Amino acid sequence: MVYPIVVYGDPILRKRATDIPRDFPALPQLIQDMFDTMYAAHGIGLAAPQIGKSIRLFVVDATTLEEEEEDMSGFKKVFINPELVDELGNKWAFEEGCLSIPNIRENVTRQETVRIRYFDEGWNAREEEYSGIKARIIQHEYDHLDGKLFIDYLSPLKKRMLKGKLTNISKGDVDTEYRILAPLRK
Ligand code: NI
Repeated sequence: MVYPIVVYGDPILRKRATDIPRDFPALPQLIQDMFDTMYAAHGIGLAAPQIGKSIRLFVVDATTLEEEEEDMSGFKKVFINPELVDELGNKWAFEEGCLSIPNIRENVTRQETVRIRYFDEGWNAREEEYSGIKARIIQHEYDHLDGKLFIDYLSPLKKRMLKGKLTNISKGDVDTEYRILAPLRK
């Protein structure tokens, strides 16, 4: 099932999501639905709050992303109850976008490397380190679970410049190729 994507202005995107128990109902189906929803919207990452579920779960698939410096094959993953253990390395800027903030892309500065502890879809405990674009995708999706959005990192000036567009998004007044749930749509 493809869910509509919750967009900017919905309070669920600002809540800290909660861990899920091992007996969380129909988890495999939900994970499949999240991948289907992400693919339908041509995204490379999707966090559960973006489909209206305030739980600590996100999926990524950047295997189709063609990167010259980085091998993205195999970077299709499910992160359950993740915990960011550490962020290391130099800060670097990279242009980010978000399915919940359609048609806005801005440079965001983050650290190069992350260590993340999580459970995979088979509930195996893992702790891994990622750098570069992979770290970037993880940092962006992880932020969703803490109620943070990439626009929070922008300068006050940039934010002011985006205000009108963000208001339009929350009213559903934005062109997307996927179904959205806009909080202020009349
Ligand atoms: Ni996002």
